[in-house]
Amino acid sequence: MKILGCLFDMDGVIVDTAKHHYIAWKSLADELAIPFTEVDNNALKGRSRLDRLECILRSGNLEVSSKTKIELMEKKNQLYLKIIDSLGPGDIRPGVKELILELRQKGVRLCLCSSSKNASSILKSIGILNLFDGIVDGNNLMLSKPDPEVFIKASKLLGLTPSACVVFEDAESGIEAARSGGFFALGISAEGSLKNAHANVKDLAHMSLDKLQAIVDSHAPN
Ligand code: BG6
Ligand code: MG
Repeated sequence: MKILGCLFDMDGVIVDTAKHHYIAWKSLADELAIPFTEVDNNALKGRSRLDRLECILRSGNLEVSSKTKIELMEKKNQLYLKIIDSLGPGDIRPGVKELILELRQKGVRLCLCSSSKNASSILKSIGILNLFDGIVDGNNLMLSKPDPEVFIKASKLLGLTPSACVVFEDAESGIEAARSGGFFALGISAEGSLKNAHANVKDLAHMSLDKLQAIVDSHAPN
């Protein structure tokens, strides 16, 4: 297939905020006396704020009201926002901006596909908000990854079929969402590979449309 669209996850792909989410959730879990490790955190990457909170509460056998859930999410988010307050253009992961600029210049349509409700403000802080043709984020989604809703909405917004789009993801939940929606799923992972991805790369440094097309072609079904 010829690549016509690229759908970018944000946290962990465009910017290294996955570790900041961990610090904020860890602080909340400590307060609730619920054990929470980096391994637990990795398993929850990509999921919505509410999904993550409910998983943590469940692991601690803690039941709380909807009102308390909202308060806990707000507390986590305030801490998270404080941690990422100084985020700037220098925090874009290697190769990402160069790739986005090349894709735009060659007419590939681009959409940001994040579960985060903070996506637009983060993209603005790092100076690339205006480089996307569309943004689908936690503010306009009903279902959390691994549901494919985010990518389906994005491909519709770009006017493309899923099979013409590549998804860039650092989380298993996102890879699962991409695959079940019929997209090509490229895993971005410095440590090992995402097991359900069509293909994996460590990062996007030195990535180009030609290289991307070659990766896609080499994984095309026979
Ligand atoms: C995803 C992250 O991009 O956004 C998840 O991978 C996070 O870890 C989710 O839970 C929601 O983010 P936010 O910023 O709305 O709390
Ligand atoms: Mg991510």
